Amino acid sequence: MLEKINLLFAEISELKVNGPEELESFRLRFLSKKGQISDLFEEFRNVPAEDKKEIGQKLNLLKQSALDKYNLLKSEMLISDTGSRAEDLSRPAVPYSLGSRHPISIVRNEIIDIFRRIGFTVSEGPEIEDDDHVFTKLNFAPEHPARDMQDTFYISRISAEDSNPGDILLRTHTSSVQVRVMQGQKPPIRTISPGRVFRNEAISARAHCIFHQVEGLYIDENVSFADLRQTLLFFAREMYGKDVRIRLRPSYFPFTEPSAEMDISCTICGGKGCNVCKYTGWVEVLGCGMVHPAVLESCGIDSKKYTGFAFGMGIERPAMLKYQVNDLRLYFENDIRFLEQFRTAF
Ligand code: DAH
Repeated sequence: MLEKINLLFAEISELKVNGPEELESFRLRFLSKKGQISDLFEEFRNVPAEDKKEIGQKLNLLKQSALDKYNLLKSEMLISDTGSRAEDLSRPAVPYSLGSRHPISIVRNEIIDIFRRIGFTVSEGPEIEDDDHVFTKLNFAPEHPARDMQDTFYISRISAEDSNPGDILLRTHTSSVQVRVMQGQKPPIRTISPGRVFRNEAISARAHCIFHQVEGLYIDENVSFADLRQTLLFFAREMYGKDVRIRLRPSYFPFTEPSAEMDISCTICGGKGCNVCKYTGWVEVLGCGMVHPAVLESCGIDSKKYTGFAFGMGIERPAMLKYQVNDLRLYFENDIRFLEQFRTAF
């Protein structure tokens, strides 16, 4: 018996197996119920009690080594086989992660969608701009404080003392796109311009040196302040719900006259007063006004024939209201734990 085991041991370890058919014969010959190893186990019953321990161990070893060889050959064949046999059709599909949109993109898309429904197109301009498009053509006086190095990131300045239309800088607002659109298109113009803007601010929970704005511009014959108000009311109701109220407060921007800031009734407390609206019941959402005739003229549009309105809003603040995000920095850190929470939103 011992001799039979040893012979089989040698045979199995030397045996060459080529291809799946031979592997199957190997299994049938040695490992199946009617195979040679099973036969030896049959024989084992008749082994005298005193030899059972030694022979039993050898027999188990033989069976294990045949099984190991079989498994090894089988896995090698699966790896090397690029044909259909390597595919396990019963295996569950890979769960592809769908990813999620950034909350700023979600809110930007919402704003775009609302204005698209009333005939606005989308236009974009460069983030690296010149003074002419960001300030001069928008009627900023040469000594206007927004041109100060403390607010604006300059890339190159022609003179250290004075600002110059040729200075290159990072745009501080998307109003620069208004200028590009007016220079390139004839009225009627109805467009919104989403994009990133840059200001030299210390980073905190409430301020960042990069943020996002959407600019709006409407130029045609006989456009009035009433058109501006009605457009913004439509926007506010679509964005914040039909019960939202708006109010326009007089304000000042160099590129609009008259100018206003728009507040909406606080969406958190409904106007009763809470810490988000600082107990006023109102939240400021945008700046707006009638495009200054000097701006129209500087961009080549006849201010006697055409009038228009413009508005500009940040995206971070409405996104904070919508998702109750209390720290601006979360938008820019790209922490996956923050971003994954927006998975279901488009
Ligand atoms: N550009 C302004 C800002 O960054 C926002 C703004 C105000 C845009 C009034 C406009 C406007 O078009 O009419 O604060």
